[in-house]
Amino acid sequence: MSRFWSDVVSRLTPYVPGEQTERQDVVKLNTNENPYGPSPRVLEALRENIGDGLRLYPDPVSARLREVISRRFGVTPAQVFVGNGSDEVLAHTFRALLTHPAPVLFPDVTYSFYPVYCRLFGASYKHIALNARFEIDVGDYLQDNGGIVFPNPNAPTGLALGVPQIERLLEANTESVVVIDEAYVDFGCESVVPLVHRYPHLLVTHTLSKSYALAGLRVGFAIGHPDLIGGLERVKDSFNSYPVDRLAQAAAIAAIEDVGYLAASCRKIVESRERMAVDMSAIGFEVLPSKANFLLARHPSHEAETLSAKLRERGVIVRHFRNPQRVAPYLRISVGTDAQCAALLAALRDVLG
Ligand SMILES: Cc1ncc(COP(=O)(O)O)c(C=O)c1O
Repeated sequence: MSRFWSDVVSRLTPYVPGEQTERQDVVKLNTNENPYGPSPRVLEALRENIGDGLRLYPDPVSARLREVISRRFGVTPAQVFVGNGSDEVLAHTFRALLTHPAPVLFPDVTYSFYPVYCRLFGASYKHIALNARFEIDVGDYLQDNGGIVFPNPNAPTGLALGVPQIERLLEANTESVVVIDEAYVDFGCESVVPLVHRYPHLLVTHTLSKSYALAGLRVGFAIGHPDLIGGLERVKDSFNSYPVDRLAQAAAIAAIEDVGYLAASCRKIVESRERMAVDMSAIGFEVLPSKANFLLARHPSHEAETLSAKLRERGVIVRHFRNPQRVAPYLRISVGTDAQCAALLAALRDVLG
């Protein structure tokens, strides 16, 4: 605390990201990174763009990247916004589209950055409780609001809604923006991007951090009606005109164009996820049916915090959230390579005795 801080800064409770370590001797399953690494074409694009060109600012509007994204998703470049990670895209979204007198609605168990943005931008918000099965019930969101946001699949539950349920929400809630955060959509859930043509109040956000294995590059994007995109651009150009650097733009283009690599990488992760769920169930875990690249699981006779600490002693790092209370009994475990999944299982068997 400093006397020089503004009131807003003094009152902030910043987001705490998962631990990062460069250690090679640990099995790192705590931040939902992709264990397989990016497409070789991405590495090639990076190498090609390291040179004298770096003295120049990048294209401020990421025109080529937006063009590639728009072709891939069947939209126009005017319907695409790109940013420095989907966290930045989401921050601009809260600032541009969700800061109204009525509260933003999001689940009580969800991505914990949402309330942080609300506090930073002075937006009021209201948690909507997941149902007893940890699912989002769209009917619960039909109330006065200044916007609605949730991930699909949700994090950290991994549970997904079908397109018809989200469409029902869009039909019933037309006076505020509905943001669907599709950070994990490529791992077996259907995207609602095609709905942007029919619903001008739908914004869909994506990231290259998970399925494209580019968390270190920091690229995310949003797709929606040009009016929504225009709002995000106004915030971007009042904050940082060049958020996506030259290397990131080149690498992101290569990643999105390599459709085959993305599909193969996601397929492997989905197969490992399903095996991991079966193996964990076999040793007594209750595992939520995940459509993401992680599992949320609890053991009825072992405290999650203790389990997490014992796994760490055995070189396996997973994520445990103390808050909210409802997820405190659970561990969130990212899906790794087959060898990493095997190491996790061996460590769990050892801990459980
Ligand atoms: C639901 C959700 N949305 C968005 C993000 C942010 O991703 P990034 O800023 O790496 O694009 C994450 C990261 O963990 C996430 O879990």
